[in-house]
Amino acid sequence: MRRPIIAGNWKMNNTAKEGAALIEAIKPLVADANCDVVVCVPAIDIPAAAEALKGSNIALGAQNVHFAPKGAYTGEISADMLKEYGVEYVIIGHSERRQYFGETDETVNKRTLAALSAGLTPIVCIGETLEEREGGKTEQVLDRQIEEGMKGIDDISKIVIAYEPVWAIGTGRTATAEQANETIGYIRKKVASVFCPKCAEKVRIQYGGSMNAGNAASLMAMPEIDGGLIGGASLKAPDFAAIVHFDREGK
Ligand code: PGA
Repeated sequence: MRRPIIAGNWKMNNTAKEGAALIEAIKPLVADANCDVVVCVPAIDIPAAAEALKGSNIALGAQNVHFAPKGAYTGEISADMLKEYGVEYVIIGHSERRQYFGETDETVNKRTLAALSAGLTPIVCIGETLEEREGGKTEQVLDRQIEEGMKGIDDISKIVIAYEPVWAIGTGRTATAEQANETIGYIRKKVASVFCPKCAEKVRIQYGGSMNAGNAASLMAMPEIDGGLIGGASLKAPDFAAIVHFDREGK
């Protein structure tokens, strides 16, 4: 059994103070969650978020990590810097970083390997654009992102994979539960062939892209979908909590 994991991706939202207030609001609402709960906050919010999360069942995540342990990389943040504040997860290769900040499968791979060797759990994002989906290239793109981006990982079950079709992110256009399930099933098969079938059974694969309180239960009911990476809906405590409680709709 794979334990579900619901992670909020705040992106570039919330100052440290606003973030701490949001965490205070989320904490009591998710204290009885039956899944892993994570908030991935902007780097500068991390100290305040770590303080606010103390004693809670919510884990702290970052949104990026550099691959070098230290050095002349202006503007970057190392795994040790994150770890000092108790960060456990880190999003790597989000499509916004691939699109706007020159992230490639190669840099995704380097960051992922560095995060793993530092003991962080990478949430590695993969997914196709609308053009790629409509051109029938979804599987080809996912194959490349898995083969290149995850190259050299010893134990693939130590990462979380987030399948985020780029056309569904922040657009209000969610993949249907069936579409998401089918593509995540494909990803799992690919992971089985590139790594090992047993690890593929163990690795958690989230869906991300306009997941919200209204569609979380039907997405999460799908056998291949092990969680969600939530952008917009993670910025409001009741909405995020409702997603965390995907298993008790209407109760
Ligand atoms: P969204 O973002 O939920 O706002 O679509 C998801 C993500 O980009 O991780």
